[in-house]
Amino acid sequence: MSKFHSIKVSDIYKETKDCSVIEFEIPEALKPEFIFKQGQHLNVRTMIDGAEVRRSYSLCSSPIENKWQVAVKQIDGGLFSGFVNNTLKKGDVLEIMSPSGVFFKDVNPKVAKNYVVFAAGSGITPILSIIKTHLALEPESTFQLFYLNRTVKSIIFKEEIEALKNRYLGRFEVFFFLSKEHRNVELFNGRFTKEKLQILTQKIIDVPSVDECFICGPEEMIFLIRDEMTAAGLPKEKIHFELFHTGNSEADKQRVSKILEKKVEGTEVTILDGGKEFHFVMGEDFDNILDGAIAAGADLPYACKGGVCSTCRCKVVEGTVEMKLNYSLEEEELAKNYTLSCQAVPTSKKVVVDFGL
Ligand code: FES
Repeated sequence: MSKFHSIKVSDIYKETKDCSVIEFEIPEALKPEFIFKQGQHLNVRTMIDGAEVRRSYSLCSSPIENKWQVAVKQIDGGLFSGFVNNTLKKGDVLEIMSPSGVFFKDVNPKVAKNYVVFAAGSGITPILSIIKTHLALEPESTFQLFYLNRTVKSIIFKEEIEALKNRYLGRFEVFFFLSKEHRNVELFNGRFTKEKLQILTQKIIDVPSVDECFICGPEEMIFLIRDEMTAAGLPKEKIHFELFHTGNSEADKQRVSKILEKKVEGTEVTILDGGKEFHFVMGEDFDNILDGAIAAGADLPYACKGGVCSTCRCKVVEGTVEMKLNYSLEEEELAKNYTLSCQAVPTSKKVVVDFGL
């Protein structure tokens, strides 16, 4: 099971007015454990006003840069993002887990792939890492980036993106969309819409030649782009996405309440972890195994508690559970009985899950 490590902030700077980039100083001894793939994230933990706060942030640096950087955009009322943007300074220490996540495709220097990538705001962080890595290591591959921000000034990593465009002339095209500033080309004004995506897939993106499509942003945007790219002929398995927030849509709420109706009360749960066992009975105040276990005193890994990061992944080895939401486990993992403990509602009288598999 991944553990948190105390890691020093070696640098912190404002990328835009409300977005800070943090760089971590990974000690030499931990570097092998912190090797990462483009598109992966770090789980971060700290104490703010006496309470533990955990978040998950995508690495915006590329593995080939030998740097571990995340970008944190301040969100209204955001406890951790406010702390990073207003209080955190160079030399401070945060608790960090080694990188994880499956939002990537392996690099292959021998292939010439065409990547189409969409991002909104800080959704650029894993996308930037993906772009930098594949462009550098796959000399024949190309990228088209469609990137939405409010204004020119709020475009995160604008300079770095422009520099990459110049460096990889002919292999990297960038299309900035702005929601709060008007420009001459109507297509690039405002958020992504069905109509705009139809224009993009007819005039700018050569859909039959697209090998991989990565999308990172809010749920609504992701599903809209996924549906339009699919309608334009891109097979679903070529579309990969990473969500910001979850559980807010009507469809999610309906799914959650349906699953909760199946909850079995008083389930006896056993947690296995590398030879250790922990037993507890699910309290009626908790609807998922992670919360039930933590309340009973178990020390389990988690970060987002939203079905996104998969830090809390475990395998069901006895009994049954149903997930409220799942934005990270792939079909293959589901077929092998993996579940997200933060979403796993027990649906049998006895459940055994293994965090070590
Ligand atoms: S803690 Fe992130 S998916 Fe469960």
